[in-house]
Amino acid sequence: MADPLLRMEGIEKSFGAIRALRGVSLALDRGEALALVGDNAAGKSTLMKILSGAVFPDAGRIYLEGKPVVFRDPPDARRLGIEMVYQDLSLCDSVDVGKNLFLGREPIHRIAGIPVLDEAVLYRRTEEMLASLDIQVGSVRLPVRFLSGGQREAVAIARAVSFQPRLLILDEPTAALAVKEVEKVLALVQRLKAQGVAIVFISHRLQDIFRVCDRVMVMFEGEQVAERPIAETTLEEVIRLIVRAA
Ligand SMILES: Nc1ncnc2c1ncn2[C@@H]1O[C@H](COP(=O)(O)OP(=O)(O)OP(=O)(O)O)[C@@H](O)[C@H]1O
Ligand SMILES: [Mg+2]
Repeated sequence: MADPLLRMEGIEKSFGAIRALRGVSLALDRGEALALVGDNAAGKSTLMKILSGAVFPDAGRIYLEGKPVVFRDPPDARRLGIEMVYQDLSLCDSVDVGKNLFLGREPIHRIAGIPVLDEAVLYRRTEEMLASLDIQVGSVRLPVRFLSGGQREAVAIARAVSFQPRLLILDEPTAALAVKEVEKVLALVQRLKAQGVAIVFISHRLQDIFRVCDRVMVMFEGEQVAERPIAETTLEEVIRLIVRAA
């Protein structure tokens, strides 16, 4: 059998006295959407930050297509096709949509030999990118602080997608959104899945994971306590698993 796209094995992480992760393992296939659920502080974000290179584990191994990999920082993970949209989005509020999308890799042209930001190319590519994902923001020259929560989330996802990841991690992408905006983000996830992108979807909104995910993994106090195909579980069962010890 072919190796899965991703395998994490025996991941451990402590912050001082807090054991955030106690030997967590997971596997993910190409184009598969995995929901990661669990109560506050269960360790979901920490596990995914390890996968995106933002946090270094104390122990455990990560394999991509069967090959062991070590991520020392997010660029390491990015080079191998892993992108994460963080819970706090990490957009620059005062910077416009286009410049957020291309932050750190702005297109440059030379005028009289001097390198200058090529705004025409930047905004054109931004418009193409947003159109291809069916994202509407009004103007690509608008600072992102003027956007709605859903538009901001979409811009953060578009930035991640522009790196053409094989695996996209979304940390609570619908938490702060109104109903219509939730629908847009879920549609975006469906489109990326259809393009073969593997997705990890962290959410407390269980109705959303039943809409877009194939499998659900439940964490409790740093451990993984259950895993189910979405088609073989119910909202009630997932809730029971999340609060299991309560
Ligand atoms: N950088 C850090 N320094 C210290 N403690 C941390 C750090 N990051 C996470 N923790 C702790 O690790 C535990 C797991 O946190 P994590 O953010 O992974 O939880 P989570 O499942 O994402 O929760 P939530 O649903 O609230 O986002 C928590 O007790 C948290 O306080
Ligand atoms: Mg979190």
